[in-house]
Amino acid sequence: MMDWTDRHCRFFHRLLTRRALLYSEMITTGAVIHGDRARLLAFDPAEQPVVLQLGGCDPRALAECAAISEGLGYAEINLNVGCPSDRVQEGRFGACLMAEPALVGDCVAAMKARVRVPVTVKCRIGIDEQDPEQALDAFTAAVERAGVDALIVHARKAWLKGLSPRENRDLPPLDYGRVYRLKAAHPRLPIVLNGGIGSVEEAATHLEHIDGVMMGRAAYQEPWRLLAVDAELFGEAAPAPDAKAAAMALIPYIERELARGVRLHAITRHVLGLFRGVPGARAFRRHLATQAVKASANAETFRDALVLVDSGQAARQTVETVAA
Ligand SMILES: Cc1cc2nc3c(=O)[nH]c(=O)nc-3n(C[C@H](O)[C@H](O)[C@H](O)COP(=O)(O)O)c2cc1C
Repeated sequence: MMDWTDRHCRFFHRLLTRRALLYSEMITTGAVIHGDRARLLAFDPAEQPVVLQLGGCDPRALAECAAISEGLGYAEINLNVGCPSDRVQEGRFGACLMAEPALVGDCVAAMKARVRVPVTVKCRIGIDEQDPEQALDAFTAAVERAGVDALIVHARKAWLKGLSPRENRDLPPLDYGRVYRLKAAHPRLPIVLNGGIGSVEEAATHLEHIDGVMMGRAAYQEPWRLLAVDAELFGEAAPAPDAKAAAMALIPYIERELARGVRLHAITRHVLGLFRGVPGARAFRRHLATQAVKASANAETFRDALVLVDSGQAARQTVETVAA
């Protein structure tokens, strides 16, 4: 997610779940080819498995970017066919590619020819006046023929004219049934459901119908929920016993990154929702919002914020989630 799932966010999320696949922000082919590649594509090996999401519509450029990303160690390459922003539409990529299944098929085939890691696509159920039954079938047939390894479907249309990107994440109604039907019609193609999944328990219910789930805002805004992923969905212990322990485990990373010139706020802004609902969470957030932005902020600033959170309650939040 743009501006959210940067490398600091992903490193932090990896302290909460070993098994979830983590995705980068969308990076355009132009940025990969002409931009500051070292900065844009950098990640810590501890984030693995991590997926790079590309934005673009030129098969040759996408193949080149996929090869570069595979060379850097990304575990999967994903093509964005869901973003509705004006800038992306002007570039003729993102959600507007729902209207060009043959071109997306060419993009997938070109990437598949260059890399060995999985190549996946994230799409909508349709755009604008499209009929989601026909549009999603045609789109899926094209990418399946091209050899796509999985399709992630944000289970709502995108309205490219008249709705902002933010409105496009909430307003067109969700249609999980459409994605379940797609799965039934494509038993061999892994299909992942995205959109409005608010908890790991909800995710488990969807998994009775489809192969995977992708959580966006709930994972980012309430990251403590990720502590339930390994236990609930994979039958394995979480990497940290509770949210506070996960936050403590972030401290060596904070010290390392600060020594490289990173500002504390660049890391801790992703941690603000970790204790949502726990006594002291507001003081924790306020402390970080006012102190972590200062040039002098350091790991002590983060430790001071953690002291404000009720440890017993923070541990209970996790236990209740896992038991729910
Ligand atoms: C701040 C923000 C940035 C996003 N950036 C991307 C992006 O770069 N690529 C993408 O495929 N989806 C992006 N999305 C959409 C989400 O991945 C997801 O499809 C959408 O929010 C619905 O899922 P959710 O209800 O679980 O959040 C973004 C969403 C938000 C809130």
